[in-house]
Amino acid sequence: MTPQIFRAKQLSNYNVEEIRNDFPIFKQEIYGKPLTFLDSGASAQKPQRVLDAIQKCYAEEYANIHRGVYYLSQVGTQKYEDVRVKVQNFINAASPNEIIFVRGATEAINLVAATWGRKFLGSGDEVVLSRMEHHSNIVPWQMLRDEKDIVLTVAPIDDKANFLFDEYEKMLSERVKLVAITHISNALGTITPLKDIITAAHKVGAKVLVDGCQAVPHMPVDMQELDADFYVFSGHKLYGPTGVGVLYAKEELLKAMPPYQGGGDMIRSVTFEKTVYNDLPHKFEAGTPHIAGGIGLGAALDYVEDLGFDNIAEHEGRLLAYSLDKIQQVKGLNLIGRADNMAGIISFTMDLAHPHDIGTILDQDGIAIRTGHHCAQPVMDFFDIPSTARLSLGLYNTQQDIDRFVDSLHKVNRIFS
Ligand code: ALA
Repeated sequence: MTPQIFRAKQLSNYNVEEIRNDFPIFKQEIYGKPLTFLDSGASAQKPQRVLDAIQKCYAEEYANIHRGVYYLSQVGTQKYEDVRVKVQNFINAASPNEIIFVRGATEAINLVAATWGRKFLGSGDEVVLSRMEHHSNIVPWQMLRDEKDIVLTVAPIDDKANFLFDEYEKMLSERVKLVAITHISNALGTITPLKDIITAAHKVGAKVLVDGCQAVPHMPVDMQELDADFYVFSGHKLYGPTGVGVLYAKEELLKAMPPYQGGGDMIRSVTFEKTVYNDLPHKFEAGTPHIAGGIGLGAALDYVEDLGFDNIAEHEGRLLAYSLDKIQQVKGLNLIGRADNMAGIISFTMDLAHPHDIGTILDQDGIAIRTGHHCAQPVMDFFDIPSTARLSLGLYNTQQDIDRFVDSLHKVNRIFS
């Protein structure tokens, strides 16, 4: 069956060879072989435009922001705040006050658990997770469970890694206060039926937090259309720098939440008797932020928007179909998860070789894939395996990358047979 992938609107003349030239990393060889990078789900490579923006920030426009009356600080503040508006437009949030800069998706989820969760969840309240969650969308809720005596429940998947919506719906009741769910599984590639999940949760009065890390590099997301209460993602999977990410939350929720960390920038006034907190979004941004990271993220957003998500989705969708076809010709290869609606992430095992051996042999051919449990051990437990090998696509991958990858998998079979 051909996977139902994304919603590409139009055919394009996406020139992937030209696009690869934007990424300096592809100019080098690994062990004398061209770099075949198939691990963008872990972290994506950076276009020159992002590197230039970071360089310019430090070399020409650098000063601390939100604090100085002088020129450089004013310019830096303006540029950083312009990125907030860029992010707002990128995800169609209603206001820049709904965009909180954080270190990454992990910090964003911890922030929500530690502030909204601590204030609004109590003994017996339920948080629904899915079987496919990354550890970063499990552990913060377990930490809260240990503190507040909340109940965690897990929405199931089937053996193709489809999200079982009907089963999920049966789990919803007035006890459920939060659904914390991935948009796209990092370990399996499943795209969850997010709009329906959110609508169903709202019917019982629950809020919804979405881990959007694997979605935002591949498809447009629209906060007002989805009606998510919280949506989080990291910059580094979106062709931007590490150490910067985004928490989107509805303004009314952010207003009601206590601050996460105390310090500079998140205050309006401080005396030893009392502190008055700053307005949104600064209330949640204590300390000097990752200024250059924010600027780099802005450049990354410009880059993907200039390419166009229709084009990216169409290219990656075709490549996924090609990959699925080719990979299944490899003897003794088992796909782990094959959801009806999946993104460019393919997990697999091989009868003859352990995932780490697969990864090591592919590495010798200049091919980078991730092997292990992908920070999703409950997924591995579900499939009763310790680990998988995983290919994840980016906007710069080519059919030639997939051909090299599949040739190398045949080599794995030859070595181990
Ligand atoms: N969450 C990242 C991955 O899936 C690191 O590889």
